[in-house]
Parts: sequence; C-alpha cells; structure tokens
Amino acid sequence: MATHRILFLCLGNICRSPMAEGIFRHLVEAKKLGGSFHIDSAGMGAWHTGDPPDDRGQQTLRKKGIDISGQRARQVCLDDFENFDLLVGMDRSNRETLLGLAPEKHTHKVRLLLEFAPGTGIEEVPDPYYGGANGFDKVFDLIDAGTQGLLASLDTFDC
Ligand code: 4NP
Repeated sequence: MATHRILFLCLGNICRSPMAEGIFRHLVEAKKLGGSFHIDSAGMGAWHTGDPPDDRGQQTLRKKGIDISGQRARQVCLDDFENFDLLVGMDRSNRETLLGLAPEKHTHKVRLLLEFAPGTGIEEVPDPYYGGANGFDKVFDLIDAGTQGLLASLDTFDC
C-alpha cells in the first residue's frame, strides 16, 4: 500500500483528534501497515498548543491498550493542506473552518470522519470537553467506527 498521509482535526486538539490519531495509529500498526502511513492531528485554534491530550481521553484509550501521552497539541497551518492527503475533521464546524482555509486545489482533501462510518447514522463526533468521562467512551466508539471505515476505504479510495 502506498504511503497515506492523514491529519485528524478538531477544535482544541486535546480531546477528539488526538484520540483519532492514537486509535488510527493503533489500528494500522495492528495490521502491520504502520510504514505506509503518516498520521498526525491538529486543532482549529492555538489555545492548547504544546499540551498533552486531555486526561479523560488518555484514560479511555489506556483501557484499550493505547498510549497517547506523548502527543502534543498544535494548530492547523496552511502547509498541512500540501503535506497531507486527507484532512479529517470531527464535526461540521471543523469542516467549514478547514474549507475556509484550504487553497482551492486542496478542498477535496477535507472530509468528516463519520463519512467513513455511515452505519452509525451519526454525522459528527460530539465535543466531550465539557461533559463527564462517559462522553469520552461514546467518542471512542464513534472514532473507532470512523477510523476502521477510513482504513477500509483506502484500499479503493485513491487519496
Ligand atoms: P476537542 O475538544 O476539540 O475535541 O479537542 C475541545 C478542547 C478544548 C476546548 C474546546 C473543545 N476549549 O474550548 O478549550
């Protein structure tokens, strides 16, 4: 499989997109495909630049054997549209922001994660930041479905 460069995005880059980065990396490594992927995450804003993922998200993933403690938040930048094949947002607001930033030739790279999991019947991964820990478990299930669908789609989708 050719190298795929995938950037996951959310608002703050401390809850949803770091979880997506960790879950997707775990998935491709379990399939021995790690060498074929460049995976990263970023946020719309710079409020949390340099911060580790939210403790609640780290805890949720730790229960699944996934360690994301080494990840650090950063803000999306224009180079990301050149350097990645797909920019995968968690909600419609992320998508609108990205489409507003994207050079015209790269707008086709902007996607929503749950486009890849139509069986969920859900379009957006909700922001768990202001809720309790169980919000992160729900987010895990949605991201797990979305990342599995994304990986399956790459067999046929020329990105
Ligand atoms: P995320 O969640 O977009 O999933 O990382 C948020 C994290 C922080 C804030 C908002 C959402 N915040 O307002 O600081």
